[in-house]
Amino acid sequence: MPEGVIIREGSTDILVPELHSSGGPGKIQGGVFFNEQMAFNRDISVMLLRALGKDLTVCDAMTATGSRAVRIANEVKGTTVTANDYSTDAIPFIEANIEMNHLQNCHASNKNLNVLLNQESFDYVDLDPFGSPAPFIQSAIAGCRKNGLLAITATDTAPLAGAHAPKCRRRYQSEPVRGFMCHEGGLRILMCSIARELAKFDRGMRPLLSFYADHYFRTYIQIEEGAAKADSMLQKLGYMEYNMETMERSLSECYDHIHKLGPFWLGPLHDQEFIKKMNPAGMAAEKRCTKYLNLWSNELDSEVFVYDMSELSSHIKMSPPKLLDFLELLNTNGRATPTHISPTSFKTDLPLEEIVSLYKECSPDSH
Ligand SMILES: C[S@@+](CC[C@H](N)C(=O)[O-])C[C@H]1O[C@@H](n2cnc3c(N)ncnc32)[C@H](O)[C@@H]1O
Repeated sequence: MPEGVIIREGSTDILVPELHSSGGPGKIQGGVFFNEQMAFNRDISVMLLRALGKDLTVCDAMTATGSRAVRIANEVKGTTVTANDYSTDAIPFIEANIEMNHLQNCHASNKNLNVLLNQESFDYVDLDPFGSPAPFIQSAIAGCRKNGLLAITATDTAPLAGAHAPKCRRRYQSEPVRGFMCHEGGLRILMCSIARELAKFDRGMRPLLSFYADHYFRTYIQIEEGAAKADSMLQKLGYMEYNMETMERSLSECYDHIHKLGPFWLGPLHDQEFIKKMNPAGMAAEKRCTKYLNLWSNELDSEVFVYDMSELSSHIKMSPPKLLDFLELLNTNGRATPTHISPTSFKTDLPLEEIVSLYKECSPDSH
């Protein structure tokens, strides 16, 4: 057994290097990567796969210590799990974790995922790289069975959210949006790039759950088979215009000199009925899971545009009302919800003019 410390996550014991990340983007500290803060991310996989309620072959293609793989094998009934990492240092941790949890339904694999996923296929393929998943998406699709599920993390937040636009153009062939919509924009660029890869294989997609949290983006994609599904998926990609001077936002199907941001995935982020089946009881970050499940299943996820109270207050130059009071007023005129992306942001189906006028009405300065 390699040297390390045992931590308990959910109902699983995991041996990890003594030196490991406990927050932030995380980096390799003890030879093999482990980040305690990603317990929430692993919880989501467990809850989501449980909610599917069927037998599944699972490939955790970049498993490091095997943490996600053993949690799935131990906590989701009916799974057969391949815990893969190309690092030879990772294998003793993966094997120890399988043994420690007495798992018959999990085995270690020491391959480059590009090889593994071209040799074998699975119902669920998980990519959790350092930085961008872009170089691995084709392999993940190739290794995903008919109507399978892809789970993809991206920690290259700076390019996707517009702080490093040239890298976003290279990795994702998209023009990122900056300012208050940057994280929603980054998530939708990641989803768009997955859609464009799927289309090459005559496959479409239906997102089950997609989010931004801490320092990363994550999306769970239900693959839908056939050219017709691919064509209708491509209809949901498009461009947008965002004028930071006027706060105006608009969509466009094509690229021209004005509509120069994107392309983005413009469809919904989630299947909200499905999210309602996910149960946070017993998860490592149960309280946080409960909070996010509630946000995800209620947000206006089909609305692409995000507004932020700081943006409105700095443009309108009136003190902001409390977000909940403002949302209540917006909801008497249309629909509005908080977003999971930021505690000060919201989405609504009302036009900008009306948002501004209701903001003025609700601001404490007007009372
Ligand atoms: C961010 S870590 C994964 C963390 C892990 N999923 C967890 O929850 O703790 C990324 C891992 O991917 C592995 N990796 C990178 N490129 C790979 C490839 N082409 N094939 C297989 N594994 C790879 C690295 O060795 C590293 O352990």
